[in-house]
Amino acid sequence: MNYIKKRINVENLGENGIKKLDVKEFNANEKVQRYIQLFFRIMRSVYSTMYKAALRVVTRILDFIVVMWLSFYYIAEAIVLNFTPTSLMTLKSLRGRIILVTGGAGGVGQELVLRLVRYKAKVIVWDVNEKAMSKLKDKVSAEGYKIYTYTVDLSDRQSIYKTAEAVKDDVGSVDILINNAGIVCGQTFLNLPDYMIEKTYKVNTLSCYWTAKAFLPDMIKQGKGHIATVGSLTGMLGAYNCTDYSGSKYATLGFHESLWTELKTMGYDKIKLTMVAPYFINTGMFDGCKPTYAPMLEPKIVAKRLILAIRRGEVFCTVPSSSCYILGMKNYIPTKLNWLLQNRVLRLPQAMKTMRKFNEVEAA
Ligand SMILES: NC(=O)c1ccc[n+]([C@@H]2O[C@H](COP(=O)([O-])OP(=O)(O)OC[C@H]3O[C@@H](n4cnc5c(N)ncnc54)[C@H](O)[C@@H]3O)[C@@H](O)[C@H]2O)c1
Repeated sequence: MNYIKKRINVENLGENGIKKLDVKEFNANEKVQRYIQLFFRIMRSVYSTMYKAALRVVTRILDFIVVMWLSFYYIAEAIVLNFTPTSLMTLKSLRGRIILVTGGAGGVGQELVLRLVRYKAKVIVWDVNEKAMSKLKDKVSAEGYKIYTYTVDLSDRQSIYKTAEAVKDDVGSVDILINNAGIVCGQTFLNLPDYMIEKTYKVNTLSCYWTAKAFLPDMIKQGKGHIATVGSLTGMLGAYNCTDYSGSKYATLGFHESLWTELKTMGYDKIKLTMVAPYFINTGMFDGCKPTYAPMLEPKIVAKRLILAIRRGEVFCTVPSSSCYILGMKNYIPTKLNWLLQNRVLRLPQAMKTMRKFNEVEAA
C-alpha cells in the first residue's frame, strides 16, 4: 500500500520536484476566495451605508434640537427686544461714522441728514437736485455742522461709480450706506412712458446695486459696515398707479434679502443690512393721494425709525410696524378676500386714483 501511495505522490510531482497544480482544486480555491472577497465587499458597503445613514440621522436630530432651542431663544429675544425701552438698549454709535445718504436733499433724506449730523456722523449727501442740496447745506451749517454734497444722477451707473471714487478720496471709506432716493411716475400701466419705467427701476432699484458694488468691498476689507435701503409698503402689496414703482420696490426687497443671505452664508456677520418699508409719507412724492387707513406719516418719523433700525441692527421693519402683520395676511387669505379688503376696507385703489402725476421739469 505504501508503495502505491508513494507512486501516486511521485506522479503528482513535476520535473523540478514541485507539486503539479490540480486544475479542479485550483478552480475551487479561487471560487471560495472570490466568494469571501465578495462577502467582505458587500459587508463593507453595507457598513458604510449604515454608518452614513446613522450619521445623517444623528446630525438631523442634533440640528432639530439646536433649531428648536434657538427658535425659542430667538422668539423670546425678539419679544423682549420689542418691549424693551430704547433707552435701556445698547445701540450702535454713529459718532465719527462716514454715512452716505442718497436722495439726501428730499423729504425723508433731509430729516435723515439733520439727525445724523446731530449724532456727530460725517454725512455725505448724494442728490440730483443741486438747489435743494445747497439749501440743506445752509440748514446744516446753521446748526454748526458740515456735510459733503455731491451732485449725482442715480439713474447713471457710471456717474455713481465715478462719484463713489471721489467720495473715497475726499472723505474716506463709507461705513453706512443709506439707499434712500426714489421716484414715482403716478400713471396707470398703459399710460406709463417706457423711458419712465426704465428710469424708475434705475433710480429705485439699480442704483442700490451700483452703490453696494462701489462700497461693499471696502466694508468687507474693514470687516464691518452697514447698508440700509428705504423700501415701501407698495413693495409688499402692489398698488394702483404704481406698476413701475411697486415693481421696483419689490425688487429692492429681493435685493436686500438675497444680499443679506449671501453675506450671512459667507460669514460676513459684521456687515449689517437694514430695510425700512414705510407707508405714505408727507413729502410730496404721493401728493394728491387720499389714504383712508391712516394719515400720511411725517418724514421725521420715518427718518427716526430708520436710524433706530440701523442702530439696533434690525434687518427689516415697516412703518407703522402693524402694517407688517396686516400686509403679511395676504399670503394666507383667499385672493378674492384680499381684493375685497383692499377695495372696500382700506380703499387703496381709490386713495391712489387721485395721485399727482410725476412732473420731470419740477423734479429736475
Ligand atoms: N413719500 C412717500 O409716501 C413714500 C412712501 C414709502 C416709501 N417712500 C420712499 O422713501 C424714499 C424717500 O422718498 P421721499 O418721500 O423723501 O421723496 P422725495 O421726492 O422727497 O425725495 C427723493 C429724493 O431723491 C432724489 N432723486 C430723485 N431722482 C434722483 C436721481 N436720478 N439721482 C439722484 N437723486 C435723485 C430727489 O431729488 C429727492 O431729493 C424713497 O425711496 C421713496 O420711494 C416714500
